[in-house]
Amino acid sequence: MFEFHDPALTPESSVAEKCAWLTNRYIKLDRDVALEEQIAGLFKMGDDDARTAEPMIDSLTGETRGMMVVGNSGSGKSALLRRTLRSSGVLSIAGRETEGNTLYLTVPPEATIKALATSIAEATGYPKVSSRAKSYETWSIARHRLGERGIGLLVIDEAHHLMRRGSGKDVEGAIQTMKSLLQGEHPVAVIIAGVQKLPDAIMEDPETDSRFPKFELPRLLEGSKDAASFARGIQTCARALGLQMPEDGTLTDRILFAEAGSMGRSVRLAKNIMMNVLMDGRSQIRLQDAHRAFAMRYGSFPQSPFDAYEWLALRQDLIDGGWSR
Ligand SMILES: Nc1ncnc2c1ncn2[C@@H]1O[C@H](COP(=O)(O)OP(=O)(O)OP(=O)(O)O)[C@@H](O)[C@H]1O
Ligand SMILES: [Mg+2]
Repeated sequence: MFEFHDPALTPESSVAEKCAWLTNRYIKLDRDVALEEQIAGLFKMGDDDARTAEPMIDSLTGETRGMMVVGNSGSGKSALLRRTLRSSGVLSIAGRETEGNTLYLTVPPEATIKALATSIAEATGYPKVSSRAKSYETWSIARHRLGERGIGLLVIDEAHHLMRRGSGKDVEGAIQTMKSLLQGEHPVAVIIAGVQKLPDAIMEDPETDSRFPKFELPRLLEGSKDAASFARGIQTCARALGLQMPEDGTLTDRILFAEAGSMGRSVRLAKNIMMNVLMDGRSQIRLQDAHRAFAMRYGSFPQSPFDAYEWLALRQDLIDGGWSR
């Protein structure tokens, strides 16, 4: 479905190649290993004690397992899921024409539960689902196709869109469908991912809620191990690109503060800052580069975390002034 190209960085790399290299950089946190382990728990162990791609089935109920990945927009859910799947030795993402045991779907904002079934059917190669087909008929086609294609893991990203109330939307039906996906004839493990609206809706049905344990992506706290991993990751990228970080050593703290600890947004801002410096043909990253990249995304602020003041004093000033972007 998606091919991953990652050309190496060399001393001769052009600015465009350096930017492409930087775009592909992924920073690992402890949550990467934790998610890997939780996903492994959705599958059976083989005779050699290694995980298989065969969904674990509860022998008493015949049900497979589910889980829910939850975090604010920009926290890094999709990046984490895709990265974990890509680096898994046993799971592989299927496309319309490429083989794989995992189907990864992203729910568009206006999608209904029937539209999700249509996407599953079409993504697994079913030619065309009639728009007159009833929802249960469409689901029956979708489930059949999942079985035929040997899909053992279904990932439904942005699943909170299915939980939005509105005309043509059936939130209760969507919640029930999530549960029934674990109960079908063809066993498939299910990961649903979304913002807080997703667990809020799923909670309304205790039976579904208990079947989708939550894996949360919290904000990175200042001074935490994750914050240190973020800082190390950014410094490593800068060094590889021949860039120098600002001397006072606080750029990554300022970025995390500016992005309220959101991992994905913080990495994105840090990458934008580095790309701007590369495109300017310079090697020294300055605080005003960060200020510029931040303003380009969020607009100008009278005071920002990238003002050239001593960081701890500025941070206190921003907090006292009720700073928020
Ligand atoms: N660990 C990471 N290392 C490098 N980049 C990351 C990491 N996590 C996230 N990003 C980047 O941050 C941005 C936001 O991440 P992502 O799209 O995964 O967030 P999300 O939680 O799925 O947001 P949304 O709910 O809006 O879909 C992306 O550009 C992504 O590539
Ligand atoms: Mg996402």
